[in-house]
Amino acid sequence: MNILHISDMHFGPRHWLGKSELLLEKLNSYAADIVINTGDNTTDSLENEFEAAGAFLKSIDCQHVVSIPGNHDKRNMRSANYFRQYIDDIEVIRPLNRENCRKKKIFLDENANGIKEHFTDINFLKNITINGQSVLVVCLDSNSLYKDKGFVEKEILRSLSHAINKESYDRIILLNHHSILDTDSDPLFNSNIVIEFVRTIPSPKIDRVASLP
Ligand SMILES: [Fe+2]
Repeated sequence: MNILHISDMHFGPRHWLGKSELLLEKLNSYAADIVINTGDNTTDSLENEFEAAGAFLKSIDCQHVVSIPGNHDKRNMRSANYFRQYIDDIEVIRPLNRENCRKKKIFLDENANGIKEHFTDINFLKNITINGQSVLVVCLDSNSLYKDKGFVEKEILRSLSHAINKESYDRIILLNHHSILDTDSDPLFNSNIVIEFVRTIPSPKIDRVASLP
């Protein structure tokens, strides 16, 4: 199985200065079975940046492109709306019990003007079949609204485990933007609970964790 990992395209002022068509040509030359994109699609979560990133991702010649948000994609209270509008309109996994959530800004004030989506985390599962093998891609949002450093909500891990238990699959891969090995200048503060989560997934075990902050 050919897995192509891309990340941090930063459409907007921090995007690379080369031609996007050249990058696209290069990516398409790999004939990937699955493309995983571990976030920072935009620079400042602006709508035009999400739009450009979404158009680029849709032109990758691969049936299975799985994208998650990075910290740069959470700088706007409309981030969750834009992600689903331009990148992928996925069904987000919500916490089993909202009362248990401690992550800052995980829910916006429901009276805020014009915001359709009040839940700001983008956690989801994708079960993809490649050459007869089912691959469950677990997408964990380690970002918090308006913050660069990572934090994972324990209640979300519990909710993800609950959803994973209902799936059947041959392989399972975890995607999150911040490294769980805590090697970045924008660390994932509570990476220990993510490592514990990886360890507690029953067989088949998670054999790949992809991140790139
Ligand atoms: Fe980042």
